[in-house]
Amino acid sequence: MSLQKNFLRTLINNSHIVKVPLGNRSYPIYIGANLLKQIGSLCLTHNVARKIVIITDENVARHYLSLVKSSLEKKKFSVHTIVLPSGERQKSSATAEKIYTKLLEWNIERNSTIIALGGGVVGDLAGFIAATYQRGIGFIQIPTSLLAQVDSSVGGKVGINHPLAKNMIGAFYQPLFVLADTSVLKTLPKRELICGIGEVVKYGIILDKKFFSFIEQNLNKALSRDKKVLSHIIQRSCELKAYVVSRDEKEQNLRAILNFGHTIGHALERAGKFASLKHGEAILYGMIAETNIALESRMVSFADKERIECLIQQIPIPSLSSIRLRNADLFETMRKDKKVKDNSIRMTLPHAIGKISLPLNIDERLIDRALDYVKLYGV
Ligand SMILES: NC(=O)c1ccc[n+]([C@@H]2O[C@H](COP(=O)([O-])OP(=O)(O)OC[C@H]3O[C@@H](n4cnc5c(N)ncnc54)[C@H](O)[C@@H]3O)[C@@H](O)[C@H]2O)c1
Repeated sequence: MSLQKNFLRTLINNSHIVKVPLGNRSYPIYIGANLLKQIGSLCLTHNVARKIVIITDENVARHYLSLVKSSLEKKKFSVHTIVLPSGERQKSSATAEKIYTKLLEWNIERNSTIIALGGGVVGDLAGFIAATYQRGIGFIQIPTSLLAQVDSSVGGKVGINHPLAKNMIGAFYQPLFVLADTSVLKTLPKRELICGIGEVVKYGIILDKKFFSFIEQNLNKALSRDKKVLSHIIQRSCELKAYVVSRDEKEQNLRAILNFGHTIGHALERAGKFASLKHGEAILYGMIAETNIALESRMVSFADKERIECLIQQIPIPSLSSIRLRNADLFETMRKDKKVKDNSIRMTLPHAIGKISLPLNIDERLIDRALDYVKLYGV
């Protein structure tokens, strides 16, 4: 048996592979412990061209860049690296331009590949560069935050922010493969871990009652980074996201269900000036508020609404008391939401745990009451 076949067999035995079926843009997500050191062999298996540029941020670089780089160099890849400061501000046209300049200076050609090594910020930005440089070059995701492993690295949404609005400039651009090494979560700050848990809870509410029960039963283990629990959580979340994306890659209908909690969550995040609340924390509050609307609309039962609230209550997130929250300001943000149609604020709401609606126009009086509810809840 060839060395490559041997490698593949070992990899398959030691990791879980989730497939994202998108015709000729299909790709695997490899999930498992200690996989980073396999990146060189994996690139060989996927016939990745010899020139690779790794884009990462300084926090992730400190822990993992040398391991990834040496694994690639051992397999004779030529590797350039770009290390950015960490944070959302890097998802900008200014940073993108600096990166294009480096790629041109290094003579990076059309058949080269970009590896995003980092959280969702690096993944979105590096993916945008890969989608646009020379009209598209190879792209590999190595997500290192829980949020990136369960959400942003899967599905091909890449992009940068505009000073007036987040994620407004971008593309749908699928990676060649995703490598989610669960071992890297040991260095992830606790607050970032919680943000990822927020998206995981969302998958349970919108698509999978059994998974929701698993999270209920294993929340403390997940928060204390139990490897088995986190590994199952990542695998199931990727399966659920792959299911949605494969049916609606470009968000024409079904993919919108992934926005549950995001309309109100995003308004709260903005009210906190993107500092008081992180995205995942704001989404947890958003899900409380939007579930309340589902209850008042007689869509979800009181028992299911209580179960959702009870689970979220056990997740440590900052109080809302330090944020100036005026319903009028929150409405203003929501009206600018991408999902607004014919001036109506739209949301996807749960019918039950594991069952969600497509986007619906929502009566603003219900939103107003839900905002009052979540403000009290979050004190
Ligand atoms: N493309 C999509 O479908 C999609 C979906 C959801 C979110 N997003 C985007 O993702 C971004 C948020 O991603 P995020 O929450 O990963 O934020 P992030 O990329 O800023 O990472 C969070 C922090 O954790 C650090 N970090 C990451 N991995 C680490 C590790 N293993 N050890 C130590 N530190 C580590 C980073 O340096 C950073 O400081 C936002 O820009 C959001 O718009 C995109």
